[in-house]
Amino acid sequence: MSREKIFVIDFGGQYNQLIARRVREEHVLAEIVPYQKAWKAIQKEKPIGLIFTGGPNSVYAPGAPDVAPEIFELGIPILGICYGMQLVAKALGGQVVESNKREFGKTETSFDTSSPLFEGMDVEQITWMSHVDFVKELPQGFRTVATTDNCPVAAMEDGERKFYAVQFHPEVNHTEHGRDIFRNFLFNICGAKGDWTMENYGREVIEDIRSKVGNRRVLLALSGGVDSSVCAKLLSEAIGEQLTCIFVDQGLMRLNEGDEVEAAFRDSAMNFIRVDAKDRFLTKLKGVTDPETKRKIIGEEFIRVFEEEGKKIGVVDFLAQGTIYPDVIESGIGDAAVIKSHHNVGGLPSVVDFKELIEPLRDLFKDEVRTLGRTLGLDDTLVDRQPFPGPGLAIRVMGEITEEKLDILRKADAIFREEIAKAGLAGDIGQYFAVLTDNKTVGVMGDFRTYDYTLALRAVTTTDFMTADWARIPYETLDTTSKRIVNEVEHINRIVYDITTKPPATIEWE
Ligand code: XMP
Repeated sequence: MSREKIFVIDFGGQYNQLIARRVREEHVLAEIVPYQKAWKAIQKEKPIGLIFTGGPNSVYAPGAPDVAPEIFELGIPILGICYGMQLVAKALGGQVVESNKREFGKTETSFDTSSPLFEGMDVEQITWMSHVDFVKELPQGFRTVATTDNCPVAAMEDGERKFYAVQFHPEVNHTEHGRDIFRNFLFNICGAKGDWTMENYGREVIEDIRSKVGNRRVLLALSGGVDSSVCAKLLSEAIGEQLTCIFVDQGLMRLNEGDEVEAAFRDSAMNFIRVDAKDRFLTKLKGVTDPETKRKIIGEEFIRVFEEEGKKIGVVDFLAQGTIYPDVIESGIGDAAVIKSHHNVGGLPSVVDFKELIEPLRDLFKDEVRTLGRTLGLDDTLVDRQPFPGPGLAIRVMGEITEEKLDILRKADAIFREEIAKAGLAGDIGQYFAVLTDNKTVGVMGDFRTYDYTLALRAVTTTDFMTADWARIPYETLDTTSKRIVNEVEHINRIVYDITTKPPATIEWE
């Protein structure tokens, strides 16, 4: 498929995914390309513009990331950011020097708004700076178009060749008019059309899937999470009954979740198989208290169930997986690659006989997956679902898992989620849930002494789930939640709120 696209050339900066997302928010497809692969990829795919990212190095350091000089001869517009700016300066004959002072944080910046990059913006604005090196001498053909007290060249341009560069980070929210800068670059400078929408994407991908699959069969392991649900919906629209989805209900989901998943897919044209495996899982988990053992048992049992169901179906031509773009990036296309330690149960290539893998969400960020799901008419309960670990509530019931404890937790967790939704906080918090501790304490209910469970509430804000801060939920919401839970859920007489960041704590308790 040939689409208008921007390449974000990755030099190892920490905000690279954010840059790609900012571009996509303007309805232009952005792809992250490691600097080592830039030259070949540009020749092959002919992007309409390039963005050079930041990076941790100094451009003069031995082995510092670089690009082929021919890239500057192609007539493709370039926007350099931070390290990207210094690289442009060095490559084209300017001079970069090390400052004796690091410029960091919100910085007052003066702009020359006659530059097409800054068109329509205020002359004085706050930008977000994070650098030691800076451009001291401009390369030939360039002029300075922004300055700060400590940085004589906070932005530069060569309008003739359409090369632009900024020392600050327009992709972070602290830069006041960062989005305008991207918009100007994309539409004024690169001449983008801006037709990257999920309606278009959905239509194109459905066509693609149809022509790839023909009249053959596809199998998908549906977990009920956002990615696999959207994947199922997309495939179902494309190929109807040639798709079989296996949804293994291990009895460890949240309140009503299994039924919600079934309701969303029961009436579609595809073959939807819900396997009620609750008893199998609970039997295997009986007496087990160690979290890693729980995970292992659940993972293995899931494979067994899937294997058995797979055997009934026989050989399939394609196995579908809900892999999304951050998974692709994180499995090592870039320099800043970080491998995730947790993976949701997705496809299981080793236990199912299949010929090809199909991953229709590979190009999408999470928010795009959600938009696509909505476009396809998937219910909000599925589209807005927060991340949920593969082992489910098994790692939110501390210690031994019993049906009784799972029930208590389900009810309490549902109340917490309801109150968060009522307070309008759901969109601001990355993940929030209740944990049933293995701790019993003394309480008093009416005239009676109780000896019951302590429930913990956990809510975090995070962008990458690698680090997280505890969410500052208003006291009123915590208060209502606490009162409702102790009144409405039997066997809980104490509620605590987890106020640790990650690290040192993790998001989950087990
Ligand atoms: P932690 O607890 O490590 O969690 O801070 C980070 C993110 O990963 C999720 N998580 C899991 N996901 N299988 C999964 O599929 C697991 O075993 C697992 N453990 C944690 C957690 O919910 C959070 O989003």
